[in-house]
Amino acid sequence: MEKLKNEWKSCGINTEMCKHKFSNFEVWNAASERAKDTAIAYYQDFAKVRSERRNSILFCGQVGSGKTHLSVALAINFLKKKTRVVYMPYRDVITKIKQNMLDAEYYCKLISNYQTCEVLLIDDLFKGKINESDINIVFEIINYRYLNFLPIIISSEFSIDRLLAFDEGVGSRIYEMSKDYVVEIKTHINNNYRLK
Ligand SMILES: Nc1ncnc2c1ncn2[C@@H]1O[C@H](COP(=O)(O)OP(=O)(O)O)[C@@H](O)[C@H]1O
Ligand SMILES: [Mg+2]
Repeated sequence: MEKLKNEWKSCGINTEMCKHKFSNFEVWNAASERAKDTAIAYYQDFAKVRSERRNSILFCGQVGSGKTHLSVALAINFLKKKTRVVYMPYRDVITKIKQNMLDAEYYCKLISNYQTCEVLLIDDLFKGKINESDINIVFEIINYRYLNFLPIIISSEFSIDRLLAFDEGVGSRIYEMSKDYVVEIKTHINNNYRLK
């Protein structure tokens, strides 16, 4: 168990996040039911769809609705089956990448991990102020994965329409890849688990 947890740490999954399991994700309203069902369906279909065009899953919308919880639950289950997932906390990673943009070699090394891993989990995509270089970095990662049919698990507080409005190139690729497993949780206080 310790060994497993250390392995997860190297993928960016910390001890706190290990609590995010399917078994403790409560179905407490229609939105949480749909979210959980879609996540489980994705997990079950994964072997079949992983190299297909529609091989990804998107959780978007309401803050506090369990998007990160279910994304991490998926990651933990994949890691248990030796499928290598890399966790990318969007805000932290993008900041680090931007600080290193002038060092081309280091920049490539930083983003290549997110481009090439077996499964990428982008948590909280486009959180915070975004500008053109954020979009460019995200495009480089998403487009690489799109071209190479590599799955992505994405959580974002933005609706699909907003994601498309930020950048159509990025938004439409994400949508195409996750079309079969889109969980859009309506922005409403009733969907915030913390306030239930
Ligand atoms: N349906 C649920 N059952 C159990 N815990 C939940 C559920 N939804 C959310 N939580 C918990 O509420 C907190 C916020 O969820 P989180 O996944 O961070 O939300 P989001 O990423 O959508 O903002 C976390 O501690 C998470 O484990
Ligand atoms: Mg979250």
